[in-house]
Amino acid sequence: MFNVNHIESMEELDLHITVIKKNEDELTEEEKQLVEQAKEATYRSYAPYSNFRVGAAAALDNGVTVTGNNQENSAYPSGLCAERTTLFYANARYPEAKVKCLCIAARDTSGQFTKRPIAPCGACRQVMSETEDRGGVDMKIILYGTDGIYIIRSVKDLLPVSFDSSFL
Ligand code: THU
Repeated sequence: MFNVNHIESMEELDLHITVIKKNEDELTEEEKQLVEQAKEATYRSYAPYSNFRVGAAAALDNGVTVTGNNQENSAYPSGLCAERTTLFYANARYPEAKVKCLCIAARDTSGQFTKRPIAPCGACRQVMSETEDRGGVDMKIILYGTDGIYIIRSVKDLLPVSFDSSFL
């Protein structure tokens, strides 16, 4: 029988990730602007099924900021999260640009911005990871919540031990 407590030889990898918690007034002007753009993008979300409206804003190294939001569909799995809509659009429009920072905000079914910082889904983390790798520079992630904001310096802190093209 499989015994989870019996491990012949065990090596532990102690992975350290860092999430910085800040209030809005502790953000830089650039960060505050990106938060505003992500919040604003929630109002253009197409979410008639979940009524959960997510907005994202990506600051590119060419000075452009692109925004996006979740796009749902009556065939539910055909929809797409705000993060991927935004990153795919950024890459479709500016394929040479690196994404310096991605900010995400969400309003729940009551229409209010979430108290807790919004947490991107696993599939979006995977796409963020490849976006960061392609750019070759750390992509900062800002997760907005009315009770606090999380700043994550690199996608590596959101998705450690990730799959990438080096496995292929
Ligand atoms: N959603 C996002 O757009 N981003 C997230 O980080 C979490 C979830 C969307 C997908 C779906 O349209 C709705 O929120 C409810 O899951």
